[in-house]
Amino acid sequence: MGVPSAPRVFVSGLLPAPAMEQLAELDLGWWEGDNLSRERLLEEAARAQGLLTFLTDRVDEELLAAAGRLKIVANLAVGFDNFDLAAATRHGVLLTNTPDVLTEATADLAFGLLIAAARRFREGRDWLEGGHWQGWRPLLLAGQEVGGATLGIVGLGRIGRAVARRARGFDMRILYTASRRHPEAEDETGAVFVSLGELLEQADFVSLHCPLTPATHHLIGPAELARMKPTAVLVNASRGAVVDQTALLEALRAGRIFAAGLDVFEEEPIAPDDPLLGLPNVVALPHLGSATVATRTRMALRAVENLRAGLAGARPRDLLNPEAWHG
Ligand code: GLV
Repeated sequence: MGVPSAPRVFVSGLLPAPAMEQLAELDLGWWEGDNLSRERLLEEAARAQGLLTFLTDRVDEELLAAAGRLKIVANLAVGFDNFDLAAATRHGVLLTNTPDVLTEATADLAFGLLIAAARRFREGRDWLEGGHWQGWRPLLLAGQEVGGATLGIVGLGRIGRAVARRARGFDMRILYTASRRHPEAEDETGAVFVSLGELLEQADFVSLHCPLTPATHHLIGPAELARMKPTAVLVNASRGAVVDQTALLEALRAGRIFAAGLDVFEEEPIAPDDPLLGLPNVVALPHLGSATVATRTRMALRAVENLRAGLAGARPRDLLNPEAWHG
């Protein structure tokens, strides 16, 4: 359980073994269950010098005000919408994430959802399991063509760009929209910069890869869904709240868009009886974007590297709030 005279560190859940080994010389505690409660997180934060958090742990003013000894919080995720950066900077607490190491795995999953939703994998499976398969028919469960179609990427950062690289292999025409242009990614992938409105109107597939911020909260709402083609597929492997989930449910129910591939939801975990999960044209996964053994191990090692640097007084590699750094 670690060394009591060493810095106190609390981890929100058991990490892959190579990462746990690197924490062994610290005074280490970790949560053994599924969901670390808010109360327990606050209790642990109050005595820790370092926290290694999951994307479900809110690191806000309340937590930081009660965490007098805290130096660093290392998130096991590239997204950090669970962090209040300004509050952490005010309290002099360093925050880090895990970029780069999960890019390819997350792009794979987004592309998998795209194909699964376009080609009706879920309905096909239901058809088989329900004993409906009587024989081959020309238009049985016919879906949308992926090869040669137009893909609209919202947010051409690391993951969006990796999705664009995959799309090239499918001869897709690639459009993107973002808060700024990415000339290097345009050169590499042939992606063409357009407004969100143009992208929604022209794309056969819309894939979301922007971070969740006040500017992207409900970026895709009723008006945006109405601009999409009735044959279009929406893929979300970013954050659930980028989409207005109620509006999406209505659009899918009414057949205003063809299908959705969703790895993320406004509330996670989503209730198993949520009507969205019951729709035949929804392929849904429980936030598995980066979930391969190799990627999750790399993420854990990267978070531990950041945590140890912060505790040792060195500048962490993935520092999110450099204003808090007084090295
Ligand atoms: C996962 O959603 C991540 O942000 O790493």
